[in-house]
Amino acid sequence: MPQETSTQEPLLSVRNLQFEFTLRGQVLHALRGISLSVRKGESLAIVGESGSGKSVFVNTLMGLNAPNGHITGGSILYHGQDLTKLKSNEDWLQIRGGKIAMVMQDPMTSLNPLKTIGYQIQEAVELHQGVHGEEAKKRVFDLLREVGISDPERRYHQYPHEFSGGMRQRVVIAIAVACRPEILICDEPTTALDVTIQAQILGILKQMKEKYSLTTIYITHDLGVVANVADSIAVMYAGDFVETGSCNEIFYDPRHPYTWALLSSLPQLGIKGQDLYTIVGTPPNLFYEVHGDAFAARNPHPLKIDFVRRPPMYRITDTHYVRSWLADPRAPKMDPPEHIRMLREKGIALGVAGPEYGTAVPESGEDAGSISSAAPDGRAVSCKKEASHD
Ligand SMILES: Nc1ncnc2c1ncn2[C@@H]1O[C@H](COP(=O)(O)OP(=O)(O)OP(=O)(O)O)[C@@H](O)[C@H]1O
Ligand SMILES: [Mg+2]
Repeated sequence: MPQETSTQEPLLSVRNLQFEFTLRGQVLHALRGISLSVRKGESLAIVGESGSGKSVFVNTLMGLNAPNGHITGGSILYHGQDLTKLKSNEDWLQIRGGKIAMVMQDPMTSLNPLKTIGYQIQEAVELHQGVHGEEAKKRVFDLLREVGISDPERRYHQYPHEFSGGMRQRVVIAIAVACRPEILICDEPTTALDVTIQAQILGILKQMKEKYSLTTIYITHDLGVVANVADSIAVMYAGDFVETGSCNEIFYDPRHPYTWALLSSLPQLGIKGQDLYTIVGTPPNLFYEVHGDAFAARNPHPLKIDFVRRPPMYRITDTHYVRSWLADPRAPKMDPPEHIRMLREKGIALGVAGPEYGTAVPESGEDAGSISSAAPDGRAVSCKKEASHD
């Protein structure tokens, strides 16, 4: 997921996007100048804890945020069009569904309880595929089968309440796909479902992606499923993408202390008999301006500059970027925690391919001043580039 450099033009290019909500006269900085590129055909996962801004971000791509929120800066380029300039609902209808479609966490927010599911899918087919009547109906049957709903002729006439949660989510996927979108956004589509159904829904999404050549953006706070659904990852923290990279880079060469913490809390890394790793503290209150690195207060080994200046985005490779002072060549070298080294050994079990490495370069050439101050606890910091890890 290159930020700037790529042989292929990004399909979606988000630059320095800022979004604020106003609530009882107070301003909440939900997106604090975020940048991200998505290539055509890419499957991107956005991970981050609750409240980090994942939904606000994808809603911004579809003009779906609550009316007390607005974009205050930056751009979202999609086929050369800046989506931040779209104002009216009519403008957004050119994008929503037919270009960018979304599957939300709760299928009932997308389905009309008073209309049969056949009617609702057919509506999308007729609007976006230009076919009507029997031909449209036949496509609805095909779609129902594709998302794993058997006996479509009978199911066509049923209402959402006659379907289970997992079945309803299949219907929502069928509606989204019927719109023939280029980008499919899935905002925690399996969170409310049990594990077996989750796996089935993920499988269907994968098949739909292949069959309809979709570019997908998949939101989750479960890093464990990411390797199954994505080839690149954006790690979100306090309204910012703090690290972006290929699955490989994020799992095997993570650079941001928050990414380290997220990975360390993977249940797969738990040691039998020991408590699971948890990230202590809470994210900053976004009603106040965040100074420095937003993760500094929860980082067990912060640098002094983390409390003073927000780090720039550093380029590690064409696909790997991190917003952390640790990536600055002048920063003291810091080994990732033990858990992360364990992950390299257990990585195969998570379905991620082999390790990759890169060397950090500040993206903007921004001067950090002096950042050589060591971690406050005086911890020995050395970052050995491990040549043999396979
Ligand atoms: N309409 C609103 N008015 C005020 N603040 C809002 C509004 N909608 C969202 N927020 C705030 O924006 C921030 C980002 O919320 P968002 O829903 O994007 O989080 P998230 O990462 O999707 O979390 P979750 O994993 O729980 O879905 C939060 O602090 C949230 O409280
Ligand atoms: Mg959300």
